[in-house]
Amino acid sequence: MKKLLVTGGAGFIGSEFVRHGVKHGYNIVVVDKLTYAGDKRRIKDVEKEIVFYKSDIVDKKSIERIFAQEKPDYVIHWAAESHVDRSIQDASPSLETNVKGTQIMLEVSRDHGIEKFINVSTDEVYGELSDVGQFSEASPLNPSSPYSASKASADMLGRAYFRTYGVPVITVRPSNTYGPFQYPEKFIPVVITRGIDNKSIPIYAKGENIREWLYVEDCVRGTYVVLEDGRIGETYNIGSSQEKRNIDVAQRILSFLGKTDKLIEFVKDRPGHDFRYCLNSDKIKHELGFEAKIRFDEGLEKTVRWYVENDWWWRKR
Ligand SMILES: NC(=O)c1ccc[n+]([C@@H]2O[C@H](COP(=O)([O-])OP(=O)(O)OC[C@H]3O[C@@H](n4cnc5c(N)ncnc54)[C@H](O)[C@@H]3O)[C@@H](O)[C@H]2O)c1
Repeated sequence: MKKLLVTGGAGFIGSEFVRHGVKHGYNIVVVDKLTYAGDKRRIKDVEKEIVFYKSDIVDKKSIERIFAQEKPDYVIHWAAESHVDRSIQDASPSLETNVKGTQIMLEVSRDHGIEKFINVSTDEVYGELSDVGQFSEASPLNPSSPYSASKASADMLGRAYFRTYGVPVITVRPSNTYGPFQYPEKFIPVVITRGIDNKSIPIYAKGENIREWLYVEDCVRGTYVVLEDGRIGETYNIGSSQEKRNIDVAQRILSFLGKTDKLIEFVKDRPGHDFRYCLNSDKIKHELGFEAKIRFDEGLEKTVRWYVENDWWWRKR
């Protein structure tokens, strides 16, 4: 079985990717710096079946040592500074990890003749949409925040390493992902955890911004489909076609929790806040036969239940 080197495997989506890979017999090596957002407890259930390196992807020497030691076949690059609001406060960590770190991962992968490199990008690289339309893989990149600008740079670096050096890069652009173990600074876990504690729930502007919500298991399954069958040099959107306004998501969560809407507090909008993201995911569907399975209501209910039952995780960080 192939050996996968997974960066950011102690993060929200990366940890689900690791669990899924172990279950399907892959050999997994995780490289994670364990920033504030990284947590080995997310992969405790599979810790004996994987190899874990606490390492910074910006530290080229240490990445080279890991590659020399482990000789991975494939790289799946999830590690990133992933929070838009933090990138607005200070753009530097996003640029360091997302741009420089990605370049180092590509460079070392090139030196080691990696067979496939999955570069994880995001729907945010396309910028915002109005009420209508969708982004296809051919849409121009037009990022709005320091986070999405750094991810767009990483995305383009991946494509440049393919075109220039022939590094076998495939790019995935998932939409907004949610589910268990997401760090409680992101929208859905903020609403759930503050709702549980009867604390006020801040919502930007009037909560009318629209996101396309992808359950974490679907995000991971889509990425494995691309890893196994995607064409080298190509880009695949991974969406769910399930668009929701933030205010509707918050109200749905409060209703699952049996709490009042009065907890919602509208706050000044985020600067450069994109109104709407929506992916056209026909390419992954028609070419690779992948479609997201989990309906939003079902995924949201599972997620709310998980946070209610697992406060040991989110209260003690
Ligand atoms: N969460 C989403 O909605 C979403 C949507 C689309 C794309 N993505 C992308 O998916 C990837 C994973 O997102 P997530 O939400 O799981 O993020 P996360 O913040 O939960 O996890 C990121 C992980 O990367 C690690 N990391 C950060 N800097 C590092 C460095 N310099 N060296 C090594 N490890 C480092 C952290 O310790 C953490 O474990 C990111 O690339 C993100 O841009 C996320």
